[in-house]
Amino acid sequence: MHTLTDTVTLPNGATLKNRLVIAPLTVCLSDANGYVTPQEVDYYASRTGAVGMYIAGCSYIQPNGRGWLGEEAIYDDSFIPGLSKMAAAMKRNGTKAIMQIFHAGRMAEADAIFGHDLVSAGDVAAPLEGYRTPRPLTEEEITDVIKNFKAATIRAIKAGFDGVEIHGANNYLIHQFFSPHSNTRTDRWGGSLEKRAAFPLAVVEAVLCAAREAGRKDFIVGYRLSPREQWTPGITLKDTLYLVDKLASLQLDYLHISQSHIGSVATEQGYTDKSILAYINETVNGRLPIISVGNIQTRSDVEEALTNSDMAAVGGSALIDPNWAAKLLNNHDAAIRTKLAPEDCEILKVSPLAYKILSSRAPERIL
Ligand SMILES: Cc1cc2nc3c(=O)[nH]c(=O)nc-3n(C[C@H](O)[C@H](O)[C@H](O)COP(=O)(O)O)c2cc1C
Repeated sequence: MHTLTDTVTLPNGATLKNRLVIAPLTVCLSDANGYVTPQEVDYYASRTGAVGMYIAGCSYIQPNGRGWLGEEAIYDDSFIPGLSKMAAAMKRNGTKAIMQIFHAGRMAEADAIFGHDLVSAGDVAAPLEGYRTPRPLTEEEITDVIKNFKAATIRAIKAGFDGVEIHGANNYLIHQFFSPHSNTRTDRWGGSLEKRAAFPLAVVEAVLCAAREAGRKDFIVGYRLSPREQWTPGITLKDTLYLVDKLASLQLDYLHISQSHIGSVATEQGYTDKSILAYINETVNGRLPIISVGNIQTRSDVEEALTNSDMAAVGGSALIDPNWAAKLLNNHDAAIRTKLAPEDCEILKVSPLAYKILSSRAPERIL
């Protein structure tokens, strides 16, 4: 089993100083036009330095890809100066700074894409309250989205990030292409499992191509996915293992498995013998490092995560306690802050969204 203080060498040769990662957390601190603010730079500076890798909250690669107001944009060169400040702040003490790149697709909030169409892989609304019906992207628009992921990668390189993470998880556009719930296409981008995987794989190829063309062998490219979907039809673990196998054969530097709990077990027939993470680990079979995430709060949670993955990421724990990783690495576990008390809640000042999401997460431990 891995130890949290071990270094990790990624396939491209980049070395992480330990196995702890801060998961991407959108804190909605960019301005209304998507420019990074000084408050946002301070926020990232306040949490970095101890972990091996810090993944920034998602940045949108084109105007109709913004999920919420307050997200940072990466669709134009004018965003590079602000993003550079963010990258510089995140890179303290050798922590690798990764920018997550995404398109929200059908999950975009109306005010976030005001004046633009809501688009997706198909014309099915997310089955959640308040979500609107998207229109399917045209073939030409799909090509443009792929190009925009590539252009975003070039901007992340120019801004000084050590890498990018392609956001293929959590119901956003890339996930929507892979999902039989949202992808109702009958062209080369939809229908069979292979065709549903075509868009995610095309985005990966474009992003890898950007890094290659920039001559940046050391630039980290990771991919985040959600292994299951709660809807019917929906992404099954069997589907995911197919995609994982394809991704593991590409020149990626890591796979990031987004779950609400690292130990989740599937209910799908034939896949109930071990955790989802164990099935994924088995499929990857050492070809790529895996990052796990999902309710990691303590040292023993990290140890559990590292039995079936190479790195352990924390979201909520790093929001609640900016020094979570430093305390763990210095054996000050008892000093870790575990409660998000309204009176001393930094998050409330930072982002109502963060507070809303965290409030619904294990309330008995957090509030
Ligand atoms: C406030 C908040 C914002 C988030 N923003 C993102 C994001 O931008 N990109 C992403 O992939 N996941 C995002 N997530 C999900 C987290 O990265 C993580 O997967 C999730 O919180 C579970 O990990 P945890 O139990 O350690 O919090 C967000 C979660 C929270 C609570």
